[in-house]
Amino acid sequence: MTNNVYIEQKKNKVAIEFFEVCKKFNKIYTLNNINLSIFSGKVIVICGPSGSGKSTLVRLINRLEKFDSGEIFVYGKPISNLKGNNLRKLRMNIGFVFQKFNLYSNLNVLNNVALSLIQIQNWKKEKAYQYAIEKLKEVGISNKTHSYPHELSGGQQQRVAIARVLASNAKIIIFDEPTSALDPEMISEVMIVIKNLSYHKITMIVVTHEIQFARKIADQVVFLSSGKILEQSDPENFFSNPKHPRVKKFLKKILFPLK
Ligand SMILES: Nc1ncnc2c1ncn2[C@@H]1O[C@H](COP(=O)(O)OP(=O)(O)OP(=O)(O)O)[C@@H](O)[C@H]1O
Ligand SMILES: [Mg+2]
Repeated sequence: MTNNVYIEQKKNKVAIEFFEVCKKFNKIYTLNNINLSIFSGKVIVICGPSGSGKSTLVRLINRLEKFDSGEIFVYGKPISNLKGNNLRKLRMNIGFVFQKFNLYSNLNVLNNVALSLIQIQNWKKEKAYQYAIEKLKEVGISNKTHSYPHELSGGQQQRVAIARVLASNAKIIIFDEPTSALDPEMISEVMIVIKNLSYHKITMIVVTHEIQFARKIADQVVFLSSGKILEQSDPENFFSNPKHPRVKKFLKKILFPLK
């Protein structure tokens, strides 16, 4: 295979590539020399201790934060210098689901999901609402279209947030601890919705501590500690046969917190 063919093939398969990425806050490395390939249509789970840099890593992908050196390629294109329209385009391709839902409290469920279609993509209202209802059905919450966020449970709000991202037709979805603000009983309903998305060939990056969930949905698991990737492998190896002592310690603590 010639080098060019290899590069072309890799470009098609890799949705996101980190190349020697470093990020500092107040002169301290939060991310230190991150090299990582995230393959198109796959689910990558990122875990690691609190403060290890997980949120920072995912926030770099749609430039919610800037990095100091290295490069991130999204579908083969470098993102470090994107501005204006090009930066907006990047963000339109990448949906973000936050721990705290971030719904607009003054809008009902339907408008939360349809807003960007109407205001940014200039869809006619009727078409946008129809599409929003379709997406609300996909996450099992189309019976709440006229409710406001404060009238919904945490799990329901998170499902609306997921419907909103789906409506944007993002090719990549980032979830930053999507279940950690939820009551235990609500966690599984959101996890089922995310698991179902994994059949849709959307590239997903999921920061989570839910080990059983990670095991079920991940194609690849990455462990971060103090801003460095200490281990990355398939879920079976990662959870059953971790190599790095720090990963072993972390998993033991999560699986047997009282020991
Ligand atoms: N805006 C900021 N200004 C200064 N320091 C920051 C900022 N954002 C993050 N940090 C620091 O970077 C480090 C990594 O933070 P980050 O939020 O990425 O960790 P995390 O792995 O997501 O943690 P958690 O599991 O608690 O969410 C922490 O030491 C944090 O204090
Ligand atoms: Mg975080």
